[in-house]
Amino acid sequence: MKIKLLFLLVVCFHVLNPNVLLPEQPAIATALPLYTDSRWIVDESGKRVKLACANWVSHLQPVLAEGLNRQPLDVISKWIVSMGFNCIRLTWPLWVATNDTLASLTVQQSFESLGLLESIGAIRVNNPSMLNLTIIQAFQAVVSNLGKNGVMVIIDNHISQPGWCCANRDGNGFFGDIYFDPDLWIKGLTRMATLFNGTSNVIGMSLRNELRGPKQNVSVWYKNYYFSFLNVNSIITSSSFIRYMQQGAEAVHRANPDVLTILSGLDYDKDLHFLRNQPLNLSFTRKLVFELHWYSFSDGDAWSTGNPNQVCGRVVNALKDKILFVLDQGYPLFVSEFGIDLRGGSLADNRYSNCIFGVAAELDFDWALWAFMGSYYLREGVMGLDEVYAVMNWGWSGPRNSTFLRRLSALQSPFRGAGLDEVAPYQILYHPLTGLCVQRGSFKKPLDLKLGSCAESAQWMYTPEMTLAVNGTTVLCLQADGLGRRAKLRGDCSSPATKWKPISDSRMHLSTTLPTNSTACLDIDSKNNIIASRCQCLWGDASCDPASQWFKIIYSTIRRY
Ligand SMILES: *[C@@H]1O[C@H](CO)[C@@H](O)[C@H](O)[C@H]1NC(C)=O
Ligand SMILES: *[C@@H]1O[C@H](CO)[C@@H](O)[C@H](O)[C@H]1NC(C)=O
Ligand SMILES: *[C@@H]1O[C@H](CO)[C@@H](O)[C@H](O)[C@H]1NC(C)=O
Ligand SMILES: *[C@@H]1O[C@H](CO)[C@@H](O)[C@H](O)[C@H]1NC(C)=O
Ligand SMILES: *[C@@H]1O[C@H](CO)[C@@H](O)[C@H](O)[C@H]1NC(C)=O
Ligand SMILES: *[C@@H]1O[C@H](CO)[C@@H](O)[C@H](O)[C@H]1NC(C)=O
Ligand SMILES: *[C@@H]1O[C@H](CO)[C@@H](O)[C@H](O)[C@H]1NC(C)=O
Ligand SMILES: *[C@@H]1O[C@H](CO)[C@@H](O)[C@H](O)[C@H]1NC(C)=O
Repeated sequence: MKIKLLFLLVVCFHVLNPNVLLPEQPAIATALPLYTDSRWIVDESGKRVKLACANWVSHLQPVLAEGLNRQPLDVISKWIVSMGFNCIRLTWPLWVATNDTLASLTVQQSFESLGLLESIGAIRVNNPSMLNLTIIQAFQAVVSNLGKNGVMVIIDNHISQPGWCCANRDGNGFFGDIYFDPDLWIKGLTRMATLFNGTSNVIGMSLRNELRGPKQNVSVWYKNYYFSFLNVNSIITSSSFIRYMQQGAEAVHRANPDVLTILSGLDYDKDLHFLRNQPLNLSFTRKLVFELHWYSFSDGDAWSTGNPNQVCGRVVNALKDKILFVLDQGYPLFVSEFGIDLRGGSLADNRYSNCIFGVAAELDFDWALWAFMGSYYLREGVMGLDEVYAVMNWGWSGPRNSTFLRRLSALQSPFRGAGLDEVAPYQILYHPLTGLCVQRGSFKKPLDLKLGSCAESAQWMYTPEMTLAVNGTTVLCLQADGLGRRAKLRGDCSSPATKWKPISDSRMHLSTTLPTNSTACLDIDSKNNIIASRCQCLWGDASCDPASQWFKIIYSTIRRY
C-alpha cells in the first residue's frame, strides 16, 4: 500500500498536492513529552513510542538543513511522513549556539561566503522566506515545519566547527580537542535546550555525535568525582576541572526538562562497555537514552571478506558486550545511525544490512536511518554531492530506492512494547533480506505459506518441541516436504520435518530433518513462496550469501489482522 502511494507520488508529484496523497500517517498521535520506562520510550500515558527516524543534516558549512534549494520545506516534511518516518535526527554544529558571528549570518550571507550562488538562486525559488532568516532562525523554521507535519525532532550536536564529520584528528572528537572546549559545549547545549524549551516536537537532544580520537578516555567521559562534592554551578562555570557527559546531560535537563537526553559512548558511538560496572549518576530519571552507530565499515572489511553467518554472529556478540546490554540494564537504545549504499552495489553493505535488519526486528530498538537528504549544498568541497545512502534521490524529486523503503517499513512499526494494542505473545517469522514476514496463504490455499507484509504476519507459537504452530480450527505446524518443495502447514505436528532449529553462527538458519533424513533449511523461491532447500553458506565460504535462508523468530505482542 505504502509503496503504491510512493510510486504515485513519484509519477504525479508535480501535478498533485502531496497532502492529498499522504497515507494514514497521523500527526503526532502521541502525548508529548516522551519518557523512558525501562528499555522503552513512552509517551505521557505510558504507551510505547517507537522512534523511526531519518538523519537530516544541518551541520555542514552553510549551516542550513539540506535540500531547501531543491524543494519547498513543507514538501520535504511531507516526504518524510509519506516515507513512514515519525521523526528526524536534525544535526547542528556547536558554533551555531556559541558563535554569534556565525549564528547572526543570514542564510544568504552564509551561502555567499561559500560562493554558493546557484544554491541561493534555487533557495529563492523554493524557499524565498529562508534567505533573510539568520541561520539559527532558519533552523527553528525547519523544526517548526516538521512539527506542523507531525514529525518529532531530535536535535543532535554533531560537531563544533561546521563541516563534514568525523575523523580521529579533526579537532572535534573529544573533550579538549582544539574545537571541543567542554565549557563552550555545555554553554551551547544549554542555549539550544533553552531555545527549544516549550517546542513540543523537539523530543530529544543527542549531546554529542561520535566521541572519538586520541584523547578519548572513560574517566573523562564520566568525570563525576568532583561532581559529587562540589556545587554543580561552580563546576559548570569553572574551567579548572574536566567534566563531561553527566554534566552535559544535567545542563540540558536543567534548561529543558522535557527532552530525552541521548548519550553517545566512545569510539564513534560504538562503545559503552564501561557502563556495565559504573552506571551514570544523574539527578533526574526517565529521560536517559543511549545511542549506537553501526555501519558495515564499523566492522572493518569483515563483511566483504568473511562468511556472512560467521561475521554476523561475531559482530553481534561483540556489540552485546559493548553496547546492546544497556537494554537489559533498562535503558532505551537509539541506533541513531545505520544505513547502506542504496544503489545496491556494495557487497559489504548488502550483507551487513541482512544482519542488522534481523537484529533491529529482534531487539525492536529505536533508530535513525542514515540518511534522508539526497544531496548536499556543499560537502567536503564538492557542490551538489550525491548522498548514496539517502532515501531521497539526488534531485529530491522522490525516493532513491522504493524497494529499500518497502523493506524498511516493517521496522517502522513496533513489534512489542507497553501500552500498545497488545495480545498474548506470539512469534513472527521475519525475513531480513526482503523485510517481509511469513504469511498464511489465501483463503483458497490456507495451508500454503508465502512472504508478505509483516502487518499481516501469521502468528506462530514456537514451542519447546521446536515446532512452529499456528492456531486454526486445529493446531497446524510448519512442515518441510522435501528439497525445493514448498513448506506447508500440516495437522501432524510429530514428524521430525516439523521441528525447526536455529543453526549457524547467525542463528538465522532454521533447519529441519526431512523424511529422507537429510537436513534442510527454510528458504524462499523466486516468487517469495516458502520452501525448504539445502542449507547454504553455513560457515567458511566467504563468497556465498545465505540471506535468502535467513529468518528471525521474533517475539511480538502487537495485534495483527
Ligand atoms: C565564529 O564563526 C566565524 C564564521 O564562521 C569564524 O570565522 C570564526 O572563526 C568563529 N569564531 C570562533 C571563536 O569560533
Ligand atoms: C530580504 O532582504 C532584502 C534586503 O533587506 C530585501 O530587499 C528583500 O526583499 C528581503 N526578501 C524577503 C523575501 O523578505
Ligand atoms: C584519562 O584521564 C584521566 C584524568 O585526566 C587521567 O588520569 C588518565 O591517565 C587518562 N587515561 C588515559 C588512558 O589516557
Ligand atoms: C551522585 O550525585 C549526587 C548529586 O547529584 C551525589 O550526592 C551522590 O553522592 C552521587 N553518587 C555517586 C555514587 O557518585
Ligand atoms: C521552559 O518553559 C516553561 C514553559 O513552557 C517554563 O515554565 C520554564 O520555566 C522553562 N524552563 C526553563 C529552564 O527555561
Ligand atoms: C535498491 O536496493 C536494493 C537492495 O536493497 C538493490 O538490490 C537494488 O538494486 C536497488 N535499486 C536501485 C534502483 O538502486
Ligand atoms: C492458540 O490457542 C491457544 C489455546 O486456545 C492459546 O492459548 C494461544 O494463545 C493461541 N495462540 C495464538 C498465537 O493465537
Ligand atoms: C532415518 O533415520 C532413522 C533413525 O536414525 C531410521 O530409523 C530411518 O530408517 C531413516 N530413514 C531413512 C529414509 O533413511
